[in-house]
Amino acid sequence: MINKRRKFLKTACAPVVFSMFGVSLIEACSKEDDSPTVNNLNNQDNTSGSNSNNSVTINLEDSNFSSLNNVGGWINYSAENMLLLRITSTEIRAFSNVCPHQGSQNRWSYSNSKFSCAQHNRSFEDSCSGGLTCYTATLQGSTLTVTR
Ligand code: FES
Repeated sequence: MINKRRKFLKTACAPVVFSMFGVSLIEACSKEDDSPTVNNLNNQDNTSGSNSNNSVTINLEDSNFSSLNNVGGWINYSAENMLLLRITSTEIRAFSNVCPHQGSQNRWSYSNSKFSCAQHNRSFEDSCSGGLTCYTATLQGSTLTVTR
C-alpha cells in the first residue's frame, strides 16, 4: 500500500499533488509575482540616470562634471573607471582610466592632446587609436551616455 502511494506521488502531476495537500496552484503563483524583478531594478537605475550594466548616463549640469564644459577640459571619473575629455563643443570622448602599461588608474594628467600616466611616465594620444581603450560616447544636450 505504501509503495503504491509513493509511486502515485512520483508520477502524479503537480496540481494534483498540491490539491491533495490543500494548496492551490494559483496561490503558489501569486507569491512569485510579489517578488522584485530584474526589470524593476533596471528601471530604478535608468531613472536615477547612473549606471546599467554597460552604459553610464551623466548629467553634465552636475557640478562634478563642470570641467567638461570647456574644450580641453577633462576628468578622471574614477567611480566609473573612465577618463572623459571635451574635444569640441559637440563631442566628448571617453576612455578607460586603466593605464595600458601596468594598470594604474589615478596618476593621469592631460596636455598637448595626450593623457600621461605619472606611474611610469607613459603618454597616450587622445584619439581612439592612441592606446587607451576607447568607449562610445553620445552627447545629447547636457546628457552624456557612455557605452562600454
Ligand atoms: S602604469 Fe601607467 S605608465 Fe606604467
